[in-house]
Amino acid sequence: MLRAILLLLFAATASAAQTAIPTAALHEGRASVGDLEVGGELRGVPGGATRYLRDEDLLHMPQETYSVTDDSNLKPKTEVSGVALDTLVHLFAQSPDSAFAVAICYDKYRANYPRDYLDTHHPLLVLRINGQLRDHWPQSEYGGSLGPYLISHPFFKPAFKVLSHEDEPQVPFGITRIEIRREAQVFGAIRPRGNWPPDSPVAQGYLIARQDCFRCHNMHGEGGTMAGRSWLELARIAHEDGERFRHIIRNPAAVTPGAKMPAHADYDDATLDALRSYFNTFAASGASLRRRQKP
Ligand code: HEC
Repeated sequence: MLRAILLLLFAATASAAQTAIPTAALHEGRASVGDLEVGGELRGVPGGATRYLRDEDLLHMPQETYSVTDDSNLKPKTEVSGVALDTLVHLFAQSPDSAFAVAICYDKYRANYPRDYLDTHHPLLVLRINGQLRDHWPQSEYGGSLGPYLISHPFFKPAFKVLSHEDEPQVPFGITRIEIRREAQVFGAIRPRGNWPPDSPVAQGYLIARQDCFRCHNMHGEGGTMAGRSWLELARIAHEDGERFRHIIRNPAAVTPGAKMPAHADYDDATLDALRSYFNTFAASGASLRRRQKP
């Protein structure tokens, strides 16, 4: 009998602790440079406000451990452990089932995690590499720090292919901030202008651009700003000089010496055409806007 009561008590405290995690662990101020910023639409937090998670908060959440062999940031057979991105979404999102995560990095790169990506690939926010906390982590291949946070996967099997673009692992390093958002809002910023059937080149170009280009190129407040060239600048190049646009995507270094943009040597002509048609939808609407503004 006593044991049953104790068990009941334990169960009650355990579930109370679980529901207590979200508000308890979200701090209003930063305590250390390694704290993870969280923002977007957080349960119980005013929209747009930033909160902070400390290492000890994250290490107290359910941990998962994997040996990874296919992550471009890590040597084969590296052991990673940390918190599933989906766990964070479930703990903190206002509406976990529709939530979308954005990882923002110190170099202004952003990775996007729609619901289907979270379900299919189970990305992990890494807290330990080979059992070690970040002070003992190796450097990134670009020479900077892999920390404060990076994202990896148990393994990555591409889940879709659009023309020559295959589903790519979203493995940012140097993550300083996670935003919990709504897909319609983030991807809505770059939905093609106009109505296009799903199998049209424009719709295909959109699917490619939102997984690839959007990590470094921004549309107003959405998307990465690493490139320093906005979506509308890309649209202008696509519209005015299609050859240059295609050439830059396939081999940026041939157009801009020392280019930091990665080459897309495997994109065939149909893929480049789809991207151009997609970006063109923005140039066309920009042009008609300007026309309308004329007296
Ligand atoms: C990893 C980051 C990254 C990704 C992903 C990326 N770009 Fe870029 N892009 C850059 C950077 C950085 C520049 C600035 C020039 C340079 O250093 O390469 C740039 C420049 C460009 C330019 C030239 C702009 C100018 O002013 O001349 C175009 C066009 C472009 N990108 C298109 C794309 C398209 C289309 C995609 C998706 C298929 C894409 N980029 C994906 C980083 C990226």
